[in-house]
Amino acid sequence: MDLSTRYLGMTLPHPLIAGASPLADDIDAVRRLEDAGAAAIVFRSLFEEQIAMEQMADVINIDYHAESSAEASSYFPSPHAFALGPFQYLELIRQAKAAVSIPIIASLNGTTPGGWTEYARLMAMAGADALELNLYRIATDPDISSAQIEQQMIETVQQVKAAVSIPIAVKLSPFFAGLAHLARELDRAGADGLVLFNRFYQPDIDVEDLTAVRTLHLSDSSELLLRLHWMAILSGRVQASLAVTGGVHTALDVIKATMTGAHATQMVSALLRNGPAHMRTVVSDLSAWLEKNEWHSLAEMRGNMNLFKVPDPEAYERANYMLMLQSWRG
Ligand SMILES: Cc1cc2nc3c(=O)[nH]c(=O)nc-3n(C[C@H](O)[C@H](O)[C@H](O)COP(=O)(O)O)c2cc1C
Repeated sequence: MDLSTRYLGMTLPHPLIAGASPLADDIDAVRRLEDAGAAAIVFRSLFEEQIAMEQMADVINIDYHAESSAEASSYFPSPHAFALGPFQYLELIRQAKAAVSIPIIASLNGTTPGGWTEYARLMAMAGADALELNLYRIATDPDISSAQIEQQMIETVQQVKAAVSIPIAVKLSPFFAGLAHLARELDRAGADGLVLFNRFYQPDIDVEDLTAVRTLHLSDSSELLLRLHWMAILSGRVQASLAVTGGVHTALDVIKATMTGAHATQMVSALLRNGPAHMRTVVSDLSAWLEKNEWHSLAEMRGNMNLFKVPDPEAYERANYMLMLQSWRG
């Protein structure tokens, strides 16, 4: 069965990618993902703050690894909290490129344009085939408008694009008033791919200890629906290739994502829960489903459930909303 796809200008044998996570933190883990059939691997993120601290340490000649940078925000985790420091990150890219033949996508995580985006060049020089730029940000300053925030995102993408010639994908959150507009502007700024969506890790509250409780819950397939919705809206409207992250656990999840227009589907929770070998099961289930349902290739169904041909998607969305509310029958 032909499951091949094009993502970020790369031809992949199938759309299943290991998403940004601890799944590929060392070379043995990278090899295990390739053996399990991953079409590509996204490394966990290197954060703007990590790079800025490293650069600051270079300039003022302090030991970044000794926790001596009093200037840093008191909220900022100690360097030891990160599985990979900036130099280790580059070394892991180099080692992975020597060890496996599948594409390695490095991940940079930051929110504002600045010197840290230069790190993209080092990642490319270390051998990364592509970059995923995660623009995770919770905007809390009432003086900063949505337009300003979006402009900063666009400038960040432009800076990274200017630093490298490898493709870059932008990982977004779903919470924008004008997501379709932002997607088009990122497209124009040169994003080669859009990755929908970041999950928001919302701390709970321990009401006795009066502390925030951080527990990272893994996803299930119900989280896919938000991604399908936006994939259906954006597919056909941007040049960038599209990937889903969030709620991809089964072959049916991959099929739904492809039908709404996805070129790639990233998996994290399912692999953390079931082990890397789950990837092979999903790919084989995918082939079996296509054969049973008489599809000749995955490409044939791509975007057949998107809203591109719907004359007035906004009215269609509103109609769906009303119908959904009226559908409840107790
Ligand atoms: C333990 C863990 C670590 C993660 N680390 C990163 C990261 O460093 N950068 C990033 O962009 N996403 C990170 N993610 C988010 C995943 O890449 C993915 O977008 C999210 O888990 C949703 O996909 P899933 O439903 O397949 O888990 C992480 C997720 C988990 C569970």
